[in-house]
Order: sequence, then C-alpha cells, then structure tokens
Amino acid sequence: MKEKQEELIKTAREVREKAHAPFSKFKVGAAVLTKDGEVFSGCNVESASYGLTVCAERVAIWKAISEGINEFTHIAVVVDTKRLTPPCGTCRQIIWEFCGDIPVTLANLDGDVETMQMRELLPRAFDNKFLKSNKVS
Ligand code: THU
Repeated sequence: MKEKQEELIKTAREVREKAHAPFSKFKVGAAVLTKDGEVFSGCNVESASYGLTVCAERVAIWKAISEGINEFTHIAVVVDTKRLTPPCGTCRQIIWEFCGDIPVTLANLDGDVETMQMRELLPRAFDNKFLKSNKVS
C-alpha cells in the first residue's frame, strides 16, 4: 500500500507538469491505481470555453475506462498548494461512481501527504443504487 501510494504520488506529480491550464494557471495531476496494479495518470485540460474544462481526476479515470479497465483501488491528487487540495464536487461524484469507497491521497510539492476515504469526502452519496429502487410507478 505504502509503495503503491508513493508510485501514485510520483506519477501524479509528473503528469501535473503536462497540465493544460493557461487560464487558471492551476496545474493538477492525478493518478489512479487499478485492481491489477496498473497506474493511469491524468492532468487538467482547460478550454477557452471555461465550462468545458476537465479535471485531472476525471482524465485519469476516463483514460482507464477507455482502455477497458473499471476496477480501481486508490487515487492520488497532486497540486502545488500549501493546503492540500481535495477533488472538486464533480470529481467526487465520478470517483464515487467509478471507484467506490477508495482511499484518496492528497499531496503537494512540499512532500505533505494526507489520505482519506471517499465516503468521508462524499457522505450520503448518490449513485446508481438509487436508480434501481424507490420507483414511484
Ligand atoms: N481542477 C482539477 O483538475 N481537479 C480538481 O479536483 C479541482 C480543479 C482543475 C480544473 C481547472 O483546470 C483548475 O483546476 C482550476 O479550477
């Protein structure tokens, strides 16, 4: 776990350099670990039409999904902020839906690291279980 966490942080740190963030200048790197021990990375990619921007976490997950992988065990996010930056609300929803209650490691360039569970970041989450029950008609 510790070794894999280190690998995730290193990968997220490296891919962060590739962030396309000309508008916010806020570079984010993410790396997600698959059940088979593979690592997929992603950086944020911004659009001049700001709302089309995609966060690093989702890029990493979409890359894995598009390669046919859909079982994940850990995700790391690296940002150059003093206060460790957690995933945004949209990414929390996507991480929950595609990865479940996995550990989320936040790190910065100073070497600060903190790990928490997804259920702490998104309590009482909405997911597909609700679509299958509580039907009115
Ligand atoms: N960003 C991420 O990549 N992940 C997050 O969870 C928070 C926000 C990006 C989106 C945008 O490119 C920049 O950070 C500023 O919001």
